[in-house]
Amino acid sequence: MAKYLIEDYINDIDKKGLKKTWHSILSKTLEKEFESDLFEIDNYGELYEIGLEHENKINKKEMGKYYTPKDVALLMSEWLEPLDAENVCDVGCGAGNLILAYLELIGKEKAYNLISNGNLYLYDVDEIALGICKYTIAIKYGKELLNKINAKHCDFLSKKVKLPKNSKVISNPPYYKILNIGEDWDVTKVVIDSKELYSSFIEKIIKQSNKSVIITPYSFIGSGKFYSLRQVMNNYNGFVVSFDNVPGNIFNGRKHGIFNSNKGNSVRSAITVVENKDGVNGFRFSPLIRFKTDERAKMLKKKYLESIINDRYQLIDSKKKAYYKCHNELINVLDQWENVSDQKMGNIIGTKDGYEIFVPTTCRYFTVGSKRELNRDGKRVVHVEDKEKYNYVYCMLNSTFAYWYWRLYDGGINCPLTIINSIPIFFNKLTNEQKKEINKIAEEMQNNETKYLTYKMNAGKKQENIKFPIEYRNNINKIFLEALGIKSDVNIFNRVHSSSLFVESEDDNDE
Ligand SMILES: C[S@@+](CC[C@H](N)C(=O)[O-])C[C@H]1O[C@@H](n2cnc3c(N)ncnc32)[C@H](O)[C@@H]1O
Repeated sequence: MAKYLIEDYINDIDKKGLKKTWHSILSKTLEKEFESDLFEIDNYGELYEIGLEHENKINKKEMGKYYTPKDVALLMSEWLEPLDAENVCDVGCGAGNLILAYLELIGKEKAYNLISNGNLYLYDVDEIALGICKYTIAIKYGKELLNKINAKHCDFLSKKVKLPKNSKVISNPPYYKILNIGEDWDVTKVVIDSKELYSSFIEKIIKQSNKSVIITPYSFIGSGKFYSLRQVMNNYNGFVVSFDNVPGNIFNGRKHGIFNSNKGNSVRSAITVVENKDGVNGFRFSPLIRFKTDERAKMLKKKYLESIINDRYQLIDSKKKAYYKCHNELINVLDQWENVSDQKMGNIIGTKDGYEIFVPTTCRYFTVGSKRELNRDGKRVVHVEDKEKYNYVYCMLNSTFAYWYWRLYDGGINCPLTIINSIPIFFNKLTNEQKKEINKIAEEMQNNETKYLTYKMNAGKKQENIKFPIEYRNNINKIFLEALGIKSDVNIFNRVHSSSLFVESEDDNDE
């Protein structure tokens, strides 16, 4: 057979459609009747995407397909490997990025045995992708295995679909809103509350498998609509690492990435490892990991990531509804802050009367509170009646505490008012001397606001913000740490603001 080129592929798709084209490529490859440098099995996933794109059938966002980059697939496989279970399942396998990485990791012999014993299960609603995955495995590990692979073309959320007993799962579920609840689904509270496919997949995987490694958006960690998923998670145990999406992004690691080239819009993600060890409940968390693109390889290491996951198993309840993502070295500061505080920000700020503080809604490396009405989109105004408390709130918003709180419990695009309102405050614990110092700093900052104005273009419009010298933040932090009875140096907060994972003092000059 002559060499098969991309033009032949596109012509075939136009003539026969994607399904028949792939059927022919796969069966010929299996029989070793196919010659092409381009159509190496490692490229199948990518080539399938090109085909889909050509047929103009999908829009990545609509279908919620964020394919797992190789380095992430390897990391997830390394977490899956030691988890003990007889059957291995890839839910939403697509063309096989995850399961192929896993099989490669465990090596030819183990992979062969697993498959030939009928212990490998694949699930996908996309028949062609599922076929590519199944054939690729057979091409790699032996064509006699083709019929040993349990490839399930299905809607995974259908009640009819059940994971095998004694199984472990690797999965990158679809990220998309549930538009119609399937007639044959198990309509759980998680499905109803979240109306998201990914959380519904997590729930089913957690409930039906023994252990799992799942990559998803990170929003289930804190957002209100995933509270019922977190309640389910209380019955299991493991750990979660979560990743910010700027400057570096988990989904931008692909070599020939076609779909994932848009840096700004890519999702913030989390990898959940369900270990189900004996005698514990709850999940341990990493901080929200912010990394530079050139730090990616150093960061995506099992050992390193495990070293920054907190020891504490978090459980949620009606009083503590969200998980927090805290740096190891700051966990005592967080405990002390939450314990010593006797009020929440919402108790002393209002929306009507008093002194105004303007707060930009977006915050990347710090939060800002200003007396001046900033000339920008995306700001809110809060009011504080009492002058001394006003200065305290002003300092709190310009300190690390407000920003850090948002990173702990949210860290998304905007800083919501609900987060601001729930910031623990300890005004009553400040000594008179400390209150005086806070007043002094606040007034100096207020008088100097115009000196530190910065501008950034966004959506064709100049957006005003304030970038105070870091000394102000440090001075406030110092007083607040003292008021909380914490002996740490203010530098302990440097990493909270850093844009780099490994360099604590790296620039934080973006808003
Ligand atoms: C984010 S992609 C992941 C693909 C691949 N596992 C990877 O990691 O690169 C999600 C996959 O889930 C599949 N999927 C979407 N809805 C599904 C459903 N209801 N049941 C089963 N699979 C589904 C999609 O076809 C797609 O292959």
